[in-house]
Amino acid sequence: MILSILAHTPIPRDLPLPLPLPEGLLKALLVVFFLVHILFVNLTVGGSILVAIFEGLGFRKRRYDLLALEIAKTVTVNKSLAVVMGIGPLLCINLVYTVEWYGANALTGHAWLLIIPLITLAFLLAYLHKYTWHRWESGGWKIGHWAIVLASTLLFLCIPFVFLANINLMLFPSEWEKVKGFFSSLRIGNVFPRYLHFLLASVALSGLAGAGWFWKATVVEKIPGFRRDELRRMFYRVAMWATGLQFIAGPILLFTLPGVGVTPLLYKIILPSAALGLCLWYALWKKVKGSDGNLSTGFFPIVCFFSVVVLGMGSGRHAYREAALASHQSQVRERSEDYQKQLEAWNTAHPEDAESDAETPEQLFATCAACHAPDQRLVGPSLKEIAVIYAGNPDGIVTWATAPGKKRPDYPPMPAFAHLGEEKLRTIADYILATAPK
Ligand code: HEC
Repeated sequence: MILSILAHTPIPRDLPLPLPLPEGLLKALLVVFFLVHILFVNLTVGGSILVAIFEGLGFRKRRYDLLALEIAKTVTVNKSLAVVMGIGPLLCINLVYTVEWYGANALTGHAWLLIIPLITLAFLLAYLHKYTWHRWESGGWKIGHWAIVLASTLLFLCIPFVFLANINLMLFPSEWEKVKGFFSSLRIGNVFPRYLHFLLASVALSGLAGAGWFWKATVVEKIPGFRRDELRRMFYRVAMWATGLQFIAGPILLFTLPGVGVTPLLYKIILPSAALGLCLWYALWKKVKGSDGNLSTGFFPIVCFFSVVVLGMGSGRHAYREAALASHQSQVRERSEDYQKQLEAWNTAHPEDAESDAETPEQLFATCAACHAPDQRLVGPSLKEIAVIYAGNPDGIVTWATAPGKKRPDYPPMPAFAHLGEEKLRTIADYILATAPK
């Protein structure tokens, strides 16, 4: 098993540099930073989907249009936070999984770079959508306005997909040889179930956020036509449905995970989290089905519940990655240590080389090679010609190169190489006489 992995897996050396923080701490930070980042990504993506749906409903019922506008105002804020908060996990992942992260980046390079224009475009469209709301509210413009949010939502759906494919690819170094760019990377691991899981989480979280945001009297008063409890119930319902569907998406994700990272620890983390998720679903269901009076309380405990479930899932995700990469990381570590040992052994055996950075005759001759080729005229005459003139007289070459004269009328003058010193020039001269074609 290990052997077959070895045969097909690029195992490079790692950089022999110390980490700025203990590795365990960096990994904990990675999990926490990632969850903060993905929270805002979820809110951006889920919020964008809700805006697109509500604005669509708004063609028939004005109040949905107003609701869509209020959500649209939060999308642009959340997307900025998502980007800023993305720096933390990127830095940590670079430090802790340097080699694996690099591998996935290199293999999906084009799509990875494409993220920059895609994000830029998505942002511009999101702002255009928000700021043209009132101007393009009526008549034929309205459809155009809706088209903008559909386009930006589509982009907001593509960007995490590229990220996810990359993060997924990083987990399976033994598959890297098969990957030829982004699209072929989609066949590795289980990109699509992961993406489905991510989408449902985005909608669930946006539903929960809506239940909190649209409870605020100052926000609700901007949406005449909706009552506060009505809004909260609706958003709880969104969260409930999306959470419920996770009980289909979650098992699909778990059972399509390639075996390399599946460990008892993973189940020990995921199963209790899923059980808590079930309780969360039940709590949401109670809110949706309960009386209006019931709606004013219980939001905060639900948020706490949700956070615990998310933390569990995030930790499970990390446990999978650790297990999936354990073999590759230890092989990289071994290779790095081997290399360090070889280097030390070489230095002990060749103390003179270790100290001086001695150049080989060939390297020294490189100084002359720009103008002198073995068999043909370049800027200066060929080595063949030189070897005829200086046969058995390397010192003659040294004398010439130290202070060249002007000899051939159809050649430019040669610069002096006195600064190389007699010893090096002698090495070069011997090299020229030994290697020049006869
Ligand atoms: C920038 C180009 C250039 C470089 C670099 C250069 N040479 Fe020359 N070399 C020439 C030219 C031009 C001539 C012909 C000069 C003339 O005949 O007046 C020449 C001629 C020579 C000759 C022939 C002298 C003779 O008696 O006919 C020798 C030997 C020589 N170079 C050695 C060297 C060595 C050794 C180096 C590297 C340390 C070197 N050259 C680097 C341009 C260069």
